[in-house]
Amino acid sequence: MALTIDYSNMIARAGSPAKSAIAEADWEKACRRFAPLLDALLRGRGDGTFGFLDLPTNAALLAQSTEFAARTRGRFDDVVILGIGGSALGPIALRTALRPPEWNALDERARGGAPRLHVLDNVDPVTIVALLDRLDLARTLFVVISKSGGTAETMAQFLVARERLRRTLGGGEREHLVLVTDPAKGALRPIARGEGIAALDIPANVGGRFSVLSPVGVLPAALIGIDVAQLLAGAEDMRRRCESSDASTNPAGVFALLQHAADTLLGKPIQVLMPYSDPLRAFAAWWVQLWAESLGKIRFRDGAHVGPTPLAALGATDQHSQVQLFMEGPADKTVTFLSVREGSTDVEIPRLHQDVGELAYLGGHRLGELLDVECRATAAALGARGRPNMTVTLDRVDPWHVGGLIMLLEIATVLAGALYEVNPLDQPGVELGKQFTYAMLGRADAERARQEWSLLPKPDPKWSV
Ligand code: PA5
Repeated sequence: MALTIDYSNMIARAGSPAKSAIAEADWEKACRRFAPLLDALLRGRGDGTFGFLDLPTNAALLAQSTEFAARTRGRFDDVVILGIGGSALGPIALRTALRPPEWNALDERARGGAPRLHVLDNVDPVTIVALLDRLDLARTLFVVISKSGGTAETMAQFLVARERLRRTLGGGEREHLVLVTDPAKGALRPIARGEGIAALDIPANVGGRFSVLSPVGVLPAALIGIDVAQLLAGAEDMRRRCESSDASTNPAGVFALLQHAADTLLGKPIQVLMPYSDPLRAFAAWWVQLWAESLGKIRFRDGAHVGPTPLAALGATDQHSQVQLFMEGPADKTVTFLSVREGSTDVEIPRLHQDVGELAYLGGHRLGELLDVECRATAAALGARGRPNMTVTLDRVDPWHVGGLIMLLEIATVLAGALYEVNPLDQPGVELGKQFTYAMLGRADAERARQEWSLLPKPDPKWSV
């Protein structure tokens, strides 16, 4: 079992054009700065700042999910997650990576008796009404996920779903609900207590986008039959690897230092994650939130606005969409490929029994081989044109490797936070929009936002067509 990073195409070779890759001397200098970053990470583990590091070994927390899943096995055909941001992207990534494609379209036998898993991560009534109308609510479980227990979107979804359950079932709705939230804080806890609804914990020191290895991701995964013990074992193995004080052998250190150096030394703030794997497609979206919301901040030291801009792509599909931009557009990007050594299945491309010379080369190869060759070809082509890139290779897309990849990128995010000199755990920039929403919807404690809102310049018809 292995997860490796080849970063040859990030480091300058003899004759590399200026700013097309990181000079070896700069890379060595960056590596020498690693020790204090690692110390801060380890200290933060010790004092509980980075609670996500302890999730893989929290047996009691794991048991909350596995016991709930065991208790409810066979009772539900559909599980619906109500959540947003870090409370939704992780479960989507796990389902996409670790269950067969089109999971929700498979019949019960093909799903091994496990339920379908839907994730409602928006409040667009078009989607919500369509799903609620379609489900047999007597056989549906709603998993309400919110760390803060007060997010407007999730609470609104919860109230709508609960009311629909009440109306349709005529009582007993609590048997169709489970809440995943902070152990003490937020509005969901008193509701759980007051209405006797089951509730699982997101530890107080684990924030939304770092919570996929808590019941946020582990409960949905356990409900649909993913081997969650292996997921956590892979994460723990990676956590230990990322304790290496030698930056060049520390996977999270390598990822964070390279991306930061590419941004600050080469002027490449746009950072693409491009799996060559359909199962890892949603994983890129999970990483985009992690990287963006953690690192796009105001720098402590001087108030400067800093942070990389993450972008998700998919190989080979986006070779026919974004790769032109990556190759010849502004030289402001790095690309990280995710490649899988052994796909779960493969199929040979038949030979064409006609004389069409230009297609003859395909016959006899396999689709998985084509995908892999295309990944390597794109990496080499970008490298050859001075576009830095690296490749993370997983032996397989299985719970162990996915757990490892999650932990790698979460630790890299914390290390990158230290490099950018920002707090990777908060998100103050989303607050003002929330406050304006509260003001417009009449929340009692939003008086200050209401005043600020009323003083804002109003849209001017002169600037409208
Ligand atoms: O990463 C974060 O903290 C956020 O993206 C949250 O996940 C998101 O805002 C939802 O918050 P909550 O889980 O509190 O409902």
